[in-house]
Amino acid sequence: MAEQILILDFGSQYTQLIARRVRELNVYCEIHPYNNPPALTDDIKGVILSGSPCSVKQEDAPDLDLDAYRQKVPVIGVCYGAQMMANKNGGEVLPSKVREYGRAKLSSVDQHNELMKEISIDSQVWMSHGDTITQLPENFDIIASTPSVNVAAYKIKDEQTYGIQFHPEVTHSLEGKIVLRNFVVHICKCAQDWTPDIFVEATIDSLKEQLGDDKVVLGLSGGVDSSVAATLIHQAIGKNLHCIFVDNGLLRKNEFEDVLDSYKHMGLNVKGVDAKDRFYKALEGLTDPEDKRKAIGKVFIEVFDDEAHKIKDVKWLGQGTIYPDVIESVSVQGPSATIKSHHNVGGLPDFMKLKVVEPLNTLFKDEVRLVGKTLQIDQAILGRHPFPGPGLGIRILGDITPEKVSILQEVDHIWINGLKENGLYDEVWQAGAILLPIQSVGVMGDERTYEQVVSLRAVTSVDGMTADWCHLPYDFLADVSNKIINTVKGVNRVVYDISSKPPATIEWE
Ligand code: XMP
Repeated sequence: MAEQILILDFGSQYTQLIARRVRELNVYCEIHPYNNPPALTDDIKGVILSGSPCSVKQEDAPDLDLDAYRQKVPVIGVCYGAQMMANKNGGEVLPSKVREYGRAKLSSVDQHNELMKEISIDSQVWMSHGDTITQLPENFDIIASTPSVNVAAYKIKDEQTYGIQFHPEVTHSLEGKIVLRNFVVHICKCAQDWTPDIFVEATIDSLKEQLGDDKVVLGLSGGVDSSVAATLIHQAIGKNLHCIFVDNGLLRKNEFEDVLDSYKHMGLNVKGVDAKDRFYKALEGLTDPEDKRKAIGKVFIEVFDDEAHKIKDVKWLGQGTIYPDVIESVSVQGPSATIKSHHNVGGLPDFMKLKVVEPLNTLFKDEVRLVGKTLQIDQAILGRHPFPGPGLGIRILGDITPEKVSILQEVDHIWINGLKENGLYDEVWQAGAILLPIQSVGVMGDERTYEQVVSLRAVTSVDGMTADWCHLPYDFLADVSNKIINTVKGVNRVVYDISSKPPATIEWE
């Protein structure tokens, strides 16, 4: 990469957001933990210190020796980063009288200062801090204030080092993007030439160099990430990329055939493997979600391994790992509890003895989509909702049988097609149907029925970490419900899941 901004993470919930905003300016950036900072290299044009849930006053406050960067490249501390620099240089940081959280308005702004150029007086900013800088070191100048926070932003005299108390990366800071642009473009002088086209060109070149005449095997899932990764590798090494697409018997209706077809149209060298029976056999009698996940993961590895061994002299394993999976997030408050053992990150085991190639491991999801667009991948693949690796296996509560899979496939098909036909699919981040392990009484014609219940789920989200249930039109839900009950044998009741995450999760298992 020609140039980048380095973001040092002190554990703020907003750190990834800073990175996304910088990249929206077409400037490449990387997040590294504060306690393992990289050495300054020529490509690093500036440093951003993130916020933190910690206080600079606590005993084991996260700390960093800034000499490696300060006065060598521009530095800006956001919230905790700003407090840390003030504190270390002889200023005073004290707990705020009231915790400052939420919207505030700038009351004075030094518009001659490069960081504050084009920022209006009265500009709305987003505050989220428990401590406040009560006194600045002598050589620090205030460049913005709010009525309750005197030091909303500062600059250190005669150097390109800044601190801001508010969060420019959050959309509630209405001119926050301008502050970041001022820093990245005007102060750090980044060229804004990091675009999907350039990424594709550079990545294909480096894949060619890295892989030479070697063979690569890659597991496709039908999703965006593995499809984009495969296309990039294919453009670099052509037929030496061997893709494997496994039918685990837990895919959506017709998905195996449809997706395989579209991959073949894209010119990929794909082998479809029907392993349904192996998966069903391994799942027999399993009811615990984690046991099911583990069984599905284990069989997938076995099937993939068998297939990979059929390819002679394969040296590399291609994976669609994306940036959020690899960012070493700083755990300032201890490791977070494992809630579900999901996200098959890390993928396949060491025994395959393959080197790993991950061309997307510096990209966020939306950037992967932009790269996919540049590569002219079909919108039907790029716009697909996320779908979990264990597929319908974690949407059939309790044990899994081929019969239950086929009921759920029919329900899901009506649901997803309904969303598409009514122009709602793209408004929804993820949707699916869940087969519940209960039966309920109904009446059809003159007959009493005692059949299964399905729940429909549709959520809006940005990254799946939090989600809200979709407020879909009642008429539409009524139509889908009618269609399901009238056409899917075995189902006589449909409910709609109106839980948000947290406290519920997106999947039921
Ligand atoms: P939850 O249920 O944790 O899901 O709110 C968040 C996102 O992760 C997906 N998910 C999985 N993906 N393997 C995967 O590859 C899994 O075991 C798994 N469980 C959940 C889920 O579909 C949603 O997009």
